[in-house]
Amino acid sequence: MPDLDQEYVQKRPTSRRLYQEALEVFPSGITHDNRYLTPFPIYACRAQGSHKWDVDGNEYIDYLVGHGALLLGHGYPTVVQAVQEQAAKGTHYGACQELELEWGKMVKKLIPSAERVKFLSSGTEATMMAMRLCRAFTSRNKVLKFAGHFHGWHDYAVAGVEPPYNVPVSLGVPATTLQSMAVIPPSDPELLEETLASDKDIACVIIEPSGAHWGSIPVLPSFLTELRDITRRHDVLLIFDEVITGFRHSPGGAQKLYGITPDLTTMAKILAGGLPGGAVAGRADIMDILRFGDTPEHNRYRRIAHPGTYNGNPLSAAAGIAALKVVEMGEPHDRANAMGRRLRDGMNAVLQEADVEGCVYGELSYFHVFLGQCEHRDSCDHGVPCENTGTLLNVNNMAAKVGLPVKMLARGVHLMGNGGMLSMMHTEADIDQTIAAFRDAIQAIKPQMPTPRAV
Ligand SMILES: Cc1ncc(COP(=O)(O)O)c(C=O)c1O
Repeated sequence: MPDLDQEYVQKRPTSRRLYQEALEVFPSGITHDNRYLTPFPIYACRAQGSHKWDVDGNEYIDYLVGHGALLLGHGYPTVVQAVQEQAAKGTHYGACQELELEWGKMVKKLIPSAERVKFLSSGTEATMMAMRLCRAFTSRNKVLKFAGHFHGWHDYAVAGVEPPYNVPVSLGVPATTLQSMAVIPPSDPELLEETLASDKDIACVIIEPSGAHWGSIPVLPSFLTELRDITRRHDVLLIFDEVITGFRHSPGGAQKLYGITPDLTTMAKILAGGLPGGAVAGRADIMDILRFGDTPEHNRYRRIAHPGTYNGNPLSAAAGIAALKVVEMGEPHDRANAMGRRLRDGMNAVLQEADVEGCVYGELSYFHVFLGQCEHRDSCDHGVPCENTGTLLNVNNMAAKVGLPVKMLARGVHLMGNGGMLSMMHTEADIDQTIAAFRDAIQAIKPQMPTPRAV
């Protein structure tokens, strides 16, 4: 059996050298935590459609697709053209411009909760702004989030992301900031109800409507419905963090797909067509806290100040408009979702053939690989794996431990963590090649894996 780890190293001398140089420039040699990889990450230099290439000439089927931003795949012609034309006309006017208006109108048209829109530079900025809007609107201090849910890296968002959930994922955050975050497990309506009833300082609840980490710990739509009812009953605002699900779950995001309208929505990624950009949108009465008033007194004391050099910049706006025009048609979703289903089915068949315990789950254009013993194997087939406690799921997943991502890279497949997202450019041939790569990787790791328990 070929040694995939050795192959990975042998075929990537330039990536290895660049990484060694990078160690002297960046902490751990990387510019995004997700790229931290033993023995070293790949250095990409070109991408097109569903594929990308590294500096050593290796080709990959890409399941990061710009960390989810590229539903249309790399280099979509109308997006490239829009960016090129706009770059020539100016990248920053330091003035209002028509493109921001057109972009904002498209967000309003597509996203049901979007009565008003505000652009920012990233998803992290969007969730930070949404939380602040809720605190300002309600005159309360706290935000409730769910254990495992990811909302970026600002001081409030680092609470309750990874087990143990009472310890933030970052140092350097003031204890008083963390005390303003309430963290409870998802999918427990009674606990949510009790928490909101007992703590009257909670301004809002924020959730990834797919469930934590783009559905790696799924929540059911029925919980989202309950969440909407409970927050309304307790007069607490609801934020859907649609940084990933926005424009991907459906052209109108998860809220459109499930028919549940939050008070505020945060967006980024697909919003800006693969360029930097974020947005908060929602109820006009809440968003109006950003509004200037008629008096100096109002403007100094009664609003949220919001500068930001790259808010609604023309380049991101041009790319965003071009991308959303394609998103709007719904065709990218049909294609990416169909390929997602084919991929999950094929990878599950590989696990069964190889008699290795685990499952490949997810819905729509997402997939997650769980390797190890599932408590309730049957439920894997329905998109909700194992005991849906989250902690168990993350801790017991052996995919990273047995080096699945590196082995898949050696076979020409770039996963995002232990799974990935698809674009409309992924083809049946890509999927079949990915399944073949997974078969090789599973054969390589099989000796380290438990076999399924007899039922
Ligand atoms: C649900 C969610 N919220 C917020 C963010 C932060 O977005 P950004 O990386 O643009 O700051 C992310 C990033 O992946 C995300 O997945």
